[in-house]
Amino acid sequence: MKRKKEIIDELEREQCLPEEGLRELLSTKEKETLEYLRQRAEAVRQSVYGNQVYIRGLIEFTNYCKNDCYYCGIRRSNSLAERYRLSREEILSCCKMGYELGFRTFVLQGGEDGYYTDERLCEIIRAMKSSYPDCAVTMSVGERDRESYEAMYRAGADRYLLRHETADEAHYGKLHPKELTRKSRMECLRTLKEIGYQVGCGFMVGSPYQTTDTLIQDLLFIKEFKPHMVGIGPFIPHKDTPFRDEAAGTLEMTLRLLSIIRLMHPLVLLPATTALGTIDANGRELGILAGANVVMPNLSPREVRGKYLLYDNKICTGDEAAECRFCMEKRMEKIGYQVVVDRGDYIAYENPGSGFS
Ligand code: SAM
Ligand code: FES
Repeated sequence: MKRKKEIIDELEREQCLPEEGLRELLSTKEKETLEYLRQRAEAVRQSVYGNQVYIRGLIEFTNYCKNDCYYCGIRRSNSLAERYRLSREEILSCCKMGYELGFRTFVLQGGEDGYYTDERLCEIIRAMKSSYPDCAVTMSVGERDRESYEAMYRAGADRYLLRHETADEAHYGKLHPKELTRKSRMECLRTLKEIGYQVGCGFMVGSPYQTTDTLIQDLLFIKEFKPHMVGIGPFIPHKDTPFRDEAAGTLEMTLRLLSIIRLMHPLVLLPATTALGTIDANGRELGILAGANVVMPNLSPREVRGKYLLYDNKICTGDEAAECRFCMEKRMEKIGYQVVVDRGDYIAYENPGSGFS
């Protein structure tokens, strides 16, 4: 325990660790070590964000996807998925409801759907920004070319979520068909950052073929890339995908990784994801207590919620936006945290003189 405690203290002090230290933290089974890791991550999270929790309204606007990722329930080969698209008016009415509920960030997430040309997406972004100029718009629509990312940025998009999925090339090849490559994913991430987006990368915890070594590569990539946000959540199998019989990622490993990421990158915007809430009824609360500072309640219309199924048993598919919003507030209050009405930007953006970097 003493040696592991020293490793955790080093991680907090240096905000990084040599590979061997990461390996020890990723493989230890000692309960006290993991509790110490959690406590340090929560302390760092408190020193940066206090007891505030940022909320993002997630609008799942299309489940059409041209890709065929082996893990994903909305992959194009899943002929059982009931496909839908939201119109600009439907998206704006989600925003209206969201604004009234106190959301100041909207996340537009969808499959890679060719129907949404740059023109259509930019029109939607412009309409959102003109109706809600005090809100941030986050896009999460996968890999597109530089011109497309630039056009959306000019239209007013502020942030972009694109999980890198895994930093290991061979592992990437086991999760995706050959037309999808790690190289292209990474290029997109670098382009997004160059353009000026606040960028989020991330990965699934416990995805098939993931090992301690691939996780170390993920952590080193995050250290080097310095994203503004990191989205991690457990892999959960979907019954109509090639990975239907694979085991889900665990609560314990997801919490451990959230804490390590918080210590490596004290300022990062780190969500406690819906997938974490799906594998454990208190998953999101435990995520916040392990160092996360963001939650993303669903703002999609109730009629389509049950159709945006990336994995089995997803929570909140029968709820209204307001129910999710207030449920989240209560859950956070119970553990001593407070949901705030705020855009929740990356701190260095808002206040470059804050002393953090
Ligand atoms: N198309 C966009 C993209 O590729 O970034 C956004 C939508 S995509 C479905 C969002 C994320 O869902 C993926 O990056 C992936 O990590 C996650 N995801 C997909 N299938 C999952 C599963 N079975 N379990 C947990 N997360 C999953
Ligand atoms: Fe749609 Fe993977 S199947 S992004």
